[in-house]
Amino acid sequence: MKIIIVENYNAMSEKAAQLVEQQISENSEMVLGLATGSTPLGLYENMIEGYKKRGVSYKHVQTINLDEYRGLSKDHPNSYYAFMCEKLFNQLDIPLENVHLPDGIARPVEAECRRYEALLDRIGPPHLQILGMGTNGHIGFNEPGTPEHSLTHCVKLDESTRANNARFFKSADEVPTHAITLGIASILKSKEILVLASGKKKAEAVKRLLDREISEAFPASFLWKHQNVTLIVDRDAY
Ligand code: F6R
Repeated sequence: MKIIIVENYNAMSEKAAQLVEQQISENSEMVLGLATGSTPLGLYENMIEGYKKRGVSYKHVQTINLDEYRGLSKDHPNSYYAFMCEKLFNQLDIPLENVHLPDGIARPVEAECRRYEALLDRIGPPHLQILGMGTNGHIGFNEPGTPEHSLTHCVKLDESTRANNARFFKSADEVPTHAITLGIASILKSKEILVLASGKKKAEAVKRLLDREISEAFPASFLWKHQNVTLIVDRDAY
């Protein structure tokens, strides 16, 4: 794992955007794995600026997101599809047919999980996967206890994860109890992985990651099994 320590959140976001743009300049048809949550928002702002000011085009890029809440349709304001459209896709030149997220309302859910994993294999795996990390070490929505061989599946969210994400909802009760997520093995299919961590809140998780003890109890630790992972971490989180 390559570790890049930067001064603050802005520096982390800029560095991450440089790495994304470098890959696009080498391959305009790259497949980019994306995450939601607060951590990548600065990266997305920098990507939008790159498109608007430096003409970085996403016309031929394909994106595959990590996860989607179970029970929320694409047009629900709290769906990750809506989040990604608002924070990124609508402000780039990426055609919406090139963006992919699990369908939160498809039934049966097992079939949707199989469809999404097959799509990952067909379009992807991503040349570069962006990851944030939960305070409990989750990546995607792979909560502690998720096995290393897991593929796309439906998970029951940890209460700590629901509480963390309640800030995006009108009330904590509205946070869905389940989500569809790429599994650990699905994430590890990516050719390269970029993990972002910022702020004091993430310091304990970063410390555990850097302990290198690989265990289901801390899902991000499985990243040590991948050959091409970069962690960009700011001083508060390091
Ligand atoms: C989001 C995701 C999650 C988040 C994690 C950190 O698609 O898969 O693993 O990356 O919960 O969230 P933030 O960035 O809000 O601290």
